[in-house]
Amino acid sequence: MALVRADGFETATLDGGPTAKTPSTINFTSEAFDKGEYAHFMRKEIAEQPEAVGRTLSGRLEPRFQTTHLGGIELAAHELLDIRRVKILGCGSAYIAGCIGAHLIEQLARLPAHAEPASEFRYRNPVIERDTLYLAVSQSGETFDTLAAVQEVKRKGGRVLGIVNVVGSTIARECGRGIYLHAGPEIAVVSTKTFTCTAVALALLAIQLGRIRDLSTADGGRLLAGLAALPEQIDGIVAREPEIARLAEQLVACEHAYFVGRSAGYAVAMEGALKLKEVSYLHAEAYSAAELKHGPLALISPETPTVVVIPRDDLYQKNISTIAEIRARRGPVVAVTHAGEMPAPVDAMFDVPASEPEFDPILLNIPLQLLAYHVALKKGCDIDKPRNLAKSVTVE
Ligand code: G6P
Repeated sequence: MALVRADGFETATLDGGPTAKTPSTINFTSEAFDKGEYAHFMRKEIAEQPEAVGRTLSGRLEPRFQTTHLGGIELAAHELLDIRRVKILGCGSAYIAGCIGAHLIEQLARLPAHAEPASEFRYRNPVIERDTLYLAVSQSGETFDTLAAVQEVKRKGGRVLGIVNVVGSTIARECGRGIYLHAGPEIAVVSTKTFTCTAVALALLAIQLGRIRDLSTADGGRLLAGLAALPEQIDGIVAREPEIARLAEQLVACEHAYFVGRSAGYAVAMEGALKLKEVSYLHAEAYSAAELKHGPLALISPETPTVVVIPRDDLYQKNISTIAEIRARRGPVVAVTHAGEMPAPVDAMFDVPASEPEFDPILLNIPLQLLAYHVALKKGCDIDKPRNLAKSVTVE
């Protein structure tokens, strides 16, 4: 319990026993808690992403050695070198950002990396390995299942770092070390800017782990430049909101939608579908593109649009084949991809600027946030407080 007066404060336990707390200053302005010119916090937080990403990156790029530096992880180079595997734990959007991070770590550091919902992990009597690095990802730092997973790892002697937004939160304290996102307060129930900042924080870690191993200085330099370019690129996507509002018309009248992608693009599809169902109550399901033919193709029809996430990567042609499979069943296709001619006809398309290919998922997700927002807006939903959902789930 806390009693706050203009000239001081007192804290106590629930039984009234006084406690001693040391104040710490958090650098937020009151505008951070105000919608300002925006109709919704979700929209404001989408617009804040360039600045938020800038803060996640701030002071962490080390161009001298073409690497990154994350002081808060408190692990020496030799300890980072001893890591053989990375396991990322979180819930909801934090878990999906972890999927993007796992992919980055595996690609850049060539370490087996995997994300798992914290709730599943904590209940399956997991094997904890000494040379695995466990990462607990959470915006609020208060999600019960993620906290319980951290405690399970620690109880079994594992090493766990927090990737958290709220400074001094329970998970941050329980981990004792990690990476703060510095995304600023996120008020809308659905996560947008912290999702992006989490992916960026994991990219920083992936580069540091990679540069200690086989990632070359040239690749390190290329990736650092790619990260530094992200804020401006995100800004450019958000500025094209009217195009995305038009795309939303493709979805607003339907009851079901698929989101598909491959590899890291699949994680983008998962987040796009999650965002859409959270704010617009539209039934959206994410599927790995290659798995479509093992079941969901049966549900493709002119009434069920599919959003296809298509980075210009090694799997580009395979994604183009997916579009053909869907259109052969008369399913409408909305493509989210890069600029350039699409070798397959689609019903609607949005292109994001080219970045370093490793960061494609971060940019491809931004239009999907705005897509969910505009579908919800057209349907008149309670965007900042979707029914039945809470910002922070502190119960089991
Ligand atoms: C809730 C929120 C989600 C969030 C998840 C995890 O379900 O509605 O937006 O992704 O909790 O929250 P955390 O604070 O741990 O990131």
